[in-house]
Order: sequence, then C-alpha cells, then structure tokens
Amino acid sequence: MHAIVARQSGGPEVLELAEVDRPTPGPGQLLIKVAATGVNFIETYQRGGMYQVPFPFTPGSEAAGTVEELGEGVENFAVGTRVATAEGTKCYAGYAVLDAAKALPVPDGVDDLTAAALPLQGMTAHYLINSSFKVEPGHTVMTHAGAGGVGLLLIQLLKERGARVITTASSAAKGELARDAGADHVLRYEGFPHHVRELTNGKGVDVVYDGVGRNTFDGSLSCLRTRGTLVLFGAASGAVPPVDPQRLNAGGSLTLTRPSLAHFLLNEQERRWRSAEIFAAAEKGRLLVRIGATYPLAEARRAHEDLEGRRTTGKVLLVP
Ligand SMILES: NC(=O)c1ccc[n+]([C@@H]2O[C@H](COP(=O)([O-])OP(=O)(O)OC[C@H]3O[C@@H](n4cnc5c(N)ncnc54)[C@H](OP(=O)(O)O)[C@@H]3O)[C@@H](O)[C@H]2O)c1
Repeated sequence: MHAIVARQSGGPEVLELAEVDRPTPGPGQLLIKVAATGVNFIETYQRGGMYQVPFPFTPGSEAAGTVEELGEGVENFAVGTRVATAEGTKCYAGYAVLDAAKALPVPDGVDDLTAAALPLQGMTAHYLINSSFKVEPGHTVMTHAGAGGVGLLLIQLLKERGARVITTASSAAKGELARDAGADHVLRYEGFPHHVRELTNGKGVDVVYDGVGRNTFDGSLSCLRTRGTLVLFGAASGAVPPVDPQRLNAGGSLTLTRPSLAHFLLNEQERRWRSAEIFAAAEKGRLLVRIGATYPLAEARRAHEDLEGRRTTGKVLLVP
C-alpha cells in the first residue's frame, strides 16, 4: 500500500510517498481501508521537530474508512462498517490500524469526507467550549483564526450556545467565511486587543480561545475581563515563550490553561459524548463542515505547505 513517510524531521519536503506493507490488526484492533485522512496542525509540529516523534514517521491521527479486518476479540464492529477516529496513528496511508475502543461509528447521514473532517477538530471545539471553559449564553468570546478548521466549527458551536463571538482572520475572504459561520465581529490581527476593548465597552471578554500562539498570546491576555480565562490550545505561529505568573495577577486574576484533546477523551463515555454530539449536529445540518481543500495522498507535502502558509480554510483532507 502507499503511505507517507518522513525519514527525518524537517520542512514539508521530508514527506515522501512510499510503498510499505499493509499493517495487520492486533488484539482489540481494526484494519480500515482509508477513505480520507484529516490533516491537522499537530502533524506539522511532529514533522518539524517541535513535538518529539520517532523517525521514520508516518503522520496521521484522523481518518475515516471502512472496516476491512477485525483483530482478535473485537466484537462491537463488523467488516464493512464505516468508522472514523481522531486517535489513530499512521493515517497518511491507504490502510490504517485503529484501536477498536477509539473507533467512532459514522452515522448513515454523514459522508466519508465529512466523517474524516470532523472528529479531531470537532471534538476539540466541543471540549474547548464545554470542558476547558464552560461557555454560557450571554458570554462574550474571542477566538482566533476564525476561518480555520477549528475556528469555523468553534464559531458555529459558540453561536448555538448563545455567546457573542469576536474572531480574527488575516484576509477579507477569510473574514467573510467566519462571518458566514456566525461570527458577530471579525477583526484583523493588528491591534486586536484595542478593538476588543472597544467592542466590550472597556470590559474585555470572558474567554479567549487561542490556537495561534506566539504572535497572539500577549494580546489575548490583554483583552480578557477581570478573572477571564485564556485557553491556549495551539501554536500555529510558533510556541509561546515561558510566562511569568505575575502577568496573570497584573491582568486581573486571570486563568491560563493549555489543554490537549487526548486529556478530554479519557474514557469511552467521554469519547462517545463528544463524538455523538458533533456527528449528530453535522448530520442534522446544524454544524456545517467546510472542506476547504482535498489533496491526493501523494501531495501531503503541498497540504502541509498550504496549511503552514495560511493558504487553507476549513478542513484539509488527503485522499488515498
Ligand atoms: N490542543 C488541542 O487539543 C488541539 C486540537 C486541534 C487543533 N489544535 C490547534 O488549533 C489550531 C488550529 O488548528 P487547525 O488545524 O484548525 O488549523 P487552521 O486554523 O485551519 O490553520 C491555522 C490558521 O492559523 C492562522 N495563523 C495565524 N498566524 C499564523 C502563522 N504565523 N502561521 C500559520 N497560521 C497562522 C491562519 O489563519 P489566518 O490566516 O486567518 O490568520 C491559519 O489558517 C492549531 O494551533 C492546532 O495546533 C489544538
């Protein structure tokens, strides 16, 4: 089968198409024929060396496909069932092995591309607004990169919750997408803390969701209300340098948290809760999943170049 292999860390050019053996499912695992693979920012951190992974490395934790083979002891899935996951490994490939416990059944009304697009960014948006900071109707929320994969989903879930949403986007076209998703105010990054103060009559917002990281971190802290919360959940512009806790005191007894999806999928119950809610929202048309770009598997390099180059919107997929 074909798979993408990086033999060392580096830029997108280390992602090469290779011919490798099809994996075999072990006990409690499934082999799936991949219909589509989700491209996520974490794979750029792994490829580039910000997150440590063993090389040679095949990226990919998100995919949807059809069960092709069952490992020993798997009882709750059958060959031919459509599944998806946000917690796979080596999914930049034609086939992938998943732990059955981490496989999500795909509802009939959700197509394969949407099923591959939704798990990781959808469950992230879900835990951010329910568990990192519980958003209530009437809250004012700032979220960055509103036209991105997580951004477009977050905006829709926040509006459904009854929050007022302020977001950032780097171009008019991206701003339009964020507005269409429901954002009340779309700002450029330049001077955003000042504009947030103006929009909130000087008070600041209840929470900022910041997946941009280094370039926005200080500004995000400075647009919070007294006792507001900064949820730093990514580093699209680079890692945030160490922070002096006194900064949180000076900003008004602020809370800072740096969550990761894995810690919000601790057991089957939690995984089913989040995945069932986001899949149901997509199936019923309450959550629109924008697939901004689909690349052949062989073009994983270009997918990473475009994602890191800010040329994508919504979800980026690879199709084997
Ligand atoms: N902690 C978790 O559990 C978790 C889970 C999933 C994703 N994440 C994080 O969430 C963030 C968004 O992920 P995503 O997959 O949905 O990506 P994305 O938002 O579709 O793409 C990243 C966006 O960030 C913005 N950006 C701002 N400065 C940038 C820079 N210097 N370089 C590149 N992009 C920049 C760009 O939008 P503009 O051009 O509009 O600025 C870009 O399109 C990432 O940081 C990712 O690591 C975290």
